[in-house]
Amino acid sequence: MTIKFLAAVLAFVASLNVAWAQAPIVIRFSHVVAPDTPKGQAAERFKLLAEQFTRGRVKVEVYPNSQLYKDKEELEALQLGAVQMLAPSLAKFGPLGVKEFEAFDLPYIFPSKAALYAVTEGPIGRDLLGKLQSKGITGLAYWDNGFKLMSANRPLHVPLDFRGLRMRIQSSTVLDAQMRALGARPQVMAFSEAYQALETGVVDGTENPPSNMYTQRMHLVQKHLTVSNHGYLGYAVIVNRKFWDGLPTDVRAALERAMRDATAFEKTIAQRDNDRALEAIRKAGKTTIYYLTPQEQEKWRAALLPVHRQMERRIGKDLIDAIARQTAEK
Ligand code: LMR
Repeated sequence: MTIKFLAAVLAFVASLNVAWAQAPIVIRFSHVVAPDTPKGQAAERFKLLAEQFTRGRVKVEVYPNSQLYKDKEELEALQLGAVQMLAPSLAKFGPLGVKEFEAFDLPYIFPSKAALYAVTEGPIGRDLLGKLQSKGITGLAYWDNGFKLMSANRPLHVPLDFRGLRMRIQSSTVLDAQMRALGARPQVMAFSEAYQALETGVVDGTENPPSNMYTQRMHLVQKHLTVSNHGYLGYAVIVNRKFWDGLPTDVRAALERAMRDATAFEKTIAQRDNDRALEAIRKAGKTTIYYLTPQEQEKWRAALLPVHRQMERRIGKDLIDAIARQTAEK
């Protein structure tokens, strides 16, 4: 082997190294909702900030609307490393084996957003994210959506109105118990399938905050909507732990900063987007929007509050009590 040949080989290898060093780190961020929802917009904000703060060393590819994966598949894809980042709703962690997140689904557990933030931004929220580590997942932040409405093609004023209705739910045992407590028949279904199931009558009704209902056009196939605020929907932003731990320290720090800023942004738009979506549903004129009277609210509470006791064994009485103590001060 001549010296000249060896030098050429070394130069070639060096050029490969340079190219490799310059290739951006790609974060594939998959989610199931529309781009113009609170989560969709926050994902785009994170992309913008992450690319800016890392000066292009990181490229974030956002895939909205279940383009890549549906609910359950995306969690598997994250664990396998096929995607690096997700923001599933807190109702979807049970199948992963972290059922404590279903505490967020308990009816009326958060009397206000302030009460919710006391949990997500305090030690309870931190401990819950910590439970994901053993699943190969790192929890980065909580993202907000809002309080849920109920919809169907018949008016839903009192629990009796739910009798026999097939209601689409997320994959949460608490939500299953909630629908049963109302006399309905819960049906777990991926978010991407909900609209069609409502349209074709596979299910009769569903629940979600207005931003999700409006952007999926569910209001076009649901004649009645009740502003019940009976439960909450929010998210945890999560990453593949091995991927995250393997990032250069300065890159990880820049991404953490981008996540902090995107999270703060998300918090400012969630309520506004839901208010606007409800207004847009009203304007579309296809759905009757109903507000419960105080007497009706009492009936809903009487039917749904026993779900807390019922779910103690699954979620842990200590956790439910800790949330109650934390939120009582708000
Ligand atoms: C749902 O499945 O209803 C929601 O979790 C969708 C979402 O991510 O907001």
